[in-house]
Amino acid sequence: MYSKNNRLVHPTGAASKISEPEPLNKGRRFAGRFRIHLTETDSTNSFLLRNEELLKYEGLVVTADRQTAGRGRKGREWLGINGEQLVLSIVLHPELGNHYLPAITLLTGLGVYKALRDEGCGLLAVKWPNDILLNSRKVCGILCELRMMASQPVVVAGIGLNVKGGRGEFPGFLRNRATTIEAETGLSLDKERLLESILNRLDTVLKQAHKGKITELFREWEQNSDSIGRGVRFHHKGSLLAGEIAGLDEIGRLKVRLASNGVSKTLIAEEVEFI
Ligand code: BTN
Repeated sequence: MYSKNNRLVHPTGAASKISEPEPLNKGRRFAGRFRIHLTETDSTNSFLLRNEELLKYEGLVVTADRQTAGRGRKGREWLGINGEQLVLSIVLHPELGNHYLPAITLLTGLGVYKALRDEGCGLLAVKWPNDILLNSRKVCGILCELRMMASQPVVVAGIGLNVKGGRGEFPGFLRNRATTIEAETGLSLDKERLLESILNRLDTVLKQAHKGKITELFREWEQNSDSIGRGVRFHHKGSLLAGEIAGLDEIGRLKVRLASNGVSKTLIAEEVEFI
């Protein structure tokens, strides 16, 4: 049912039979209603995006034991480590209005943050726009990608969470910036349990957002963020500007107070560099 010849398409272009999305029946509405588990794929986001028929399954989560070409924001690689990572992508059908689409990354981050807090992970923070920090190091990254299907937005929300292993397992350039739950807390958490926790928390966040509570969620994001008050640089109309993060505006864009004149500017995800 997934491609012309009823087969799922793999990165090589080869088609093979993979089981139907399995219904999970956990009372979730937006995230984690169906599941496909793969032993290996290039990227769980890419897997969903090239198997367009799967995007009809609202709440479908795709997990994989291994990714061979995990992707991060701005075309970066998302590297696997020798320890254990939880990698997943969720098909979301948000009905919040298209102006809120960039904020899906923030809501996803808030859901993951709450799940990790429930699991006793300690000093956590969300960082603009798509990271979760543990003891000030990145433990989780989020990559949301948008497709329009029959004029309706579909978001593939990809989550990469470093669960087990030491910091020494990251390549040198990441060793000071990336971490795992185990390295920071000594906790050896079960990936399936973490998955359940993330799906439950994200589903609740999205239910709240769809019930008109999005402003409250943005305030929660701010309260649990390491980004407020931090200095940033960004390009605007050919000039390099600097300022301090003031918070989120009414649709979840970043408000930056300019160092030069104190005027507030609103920015979207791609634009800022922390200083
Ligand atoms: C980032 O920090 O730049 C985002 C990283 C997102 C990684 C996850 S892992 C699961 C999903 N599949 C991908 O290829 N990327 C996301």
